[in-house]
Amino acid sequence: MFNVGSVVSGKYFFDRKIKIKILTEYINNNQSFTLKAPRGYGKTSLIEHIFLNIKDKKTTPISCDIKRYPNIDLLTQSLSEKYFAIYGIKNFVQKAKKMVTDLIDEIDTVQLSYNDIKTTIKLLSHDTQKLEHLCSMLDEFETINIKQNHKTVIFLDEFQDILKYNYPEILNILRATFQKHKTITYIFAGSIEKLMYHIFEKYSSPFYKFGIVLELDLFDKKDLKTDVIKLLKNKNIIFQNPMDFDDILTRLNCHPYNTVMLLQKIYYLLLEDNRNTIKKDDIARAYNLAYDSAKRLIEAEIERTKNIKGTYKLMYDIANNTADGLDSNLRYLRNVQLENLGLLTKVSKGKYEIQDSFMVDYLTAEVPK
Ligand SMILES: Nc1ncnc2c1ncn2[C@@H]1O[C@H](COP(=O)(O)OP(=O)(O)OP(=O)(O)O)[C@@H](O)[C@H]1O
Ligand SMILES: [Mg+2]
Repeated sequence: MFNVGSVVSGKYFFDRKIKIKILTEYINNNQSFTLKAPRGYGKTSLIEHIFLNIKDKKTTPISCDIKRYPNIDLLTQSLSEKYFAIYGIKNFVQKAKKMVTDLIDEIDTVQLSYNDIKTTIKLLSHDTQKLEHLCSMLDEFETINIKQNHKTVIFLDEFQDILKYNYPEILNILRATFQKHKTITYIFAGSIEKLMYHIFEKYSSPFYKFGIVLELDLFDKKDLKTDVIKLLKNKNIIFQNPMDFDDILTRLNCHPYNTVMLLQKIYYLLLEDNRNTIKKDDIARAYNLAYDSAKRLIEAEIERTKNIKGTYKLMYDIANNTADGLDSNLRYLRNVQLENLGLLTKVSKGKYEIQDSFMVDYLTAEVPK
């Protein structure tokens, strides 16, 4: 019921009502955007949830997680496969490579003609790892969209991984292509804040000011509570003392991944004992279990700070509320470095906090073990 570690959408999706409204409006108006947030805040889930709810039959969403494609050809193939599936053509890539004549017959039965898609067919026939092929294919999608009165929304998740292709001028070339398209809305998201920052917010980057950059925050407590209590009620589950739920959400800072993980642990504790009432003790036990599950991830995140001089100590000092002894310029620099890693969040001018309560527990060793 409370899913963790996978993309969540549909009835187990919580909160985000305002973001859904705004992002849906962007999509309806072909406004490309970038969603930025630390790991586990629900970037992928939010976009997939919105995609599930697109009602306009002429607007079709496509998702590609760049991390999954080791080279540009595979990314190009995946996009073409998904794009032509919209027209009902299955296994487009395989057909384009091996059974072009069959494919041409099939195309005649849908709304497309060979002329519409010949660029894509040609480029799929050789594996050359050319970025230009990806661009020509996207241009062809644009041409088809105009002809068919269609709109496409392309979600490029983990977009920072595009840099792993080490292709010269890749950002310049992609930006030049994307910005020509009037019928394709591009959505970018990524978990490595540092790279996302270098792609979208650095003045010298070609993607600087391409579309809108939005931050996804922690869950809104009130909306989250309403959604969770409603879901639990459907299963006849209640909190013995509703304030306990409130308190634990405060402690967790409504961190999306951690909160859902805790709820899942609570739910399984009840299932084990065949009970319907959540007691204070269940919440405490679930918190420790959730902390244990998250610990490896926390360790890996903390490990990242050890490569940047002085940042681990600053994290430690912030968590423990101890003096860091840094001059203000150096503290500012380290705060920004940690913010770019997604480990600190700026809460007011010069004030940064660790939003992940498990990370605070780890650094203060508050939770036993
Ligand atoms: N709106 C939501 N409703 C329910 N669960 C959510 C929501 N947002 C996040 N979660 C929880 O957080 C987990 C991580 O979500 P998701 O993978 O979408 O985050 P992400 O920001 O894309 O993370 P990453 O940066 O690691 O890719 C989900 O598996 C789920 O447990
Ligand atoms: Mg994600």
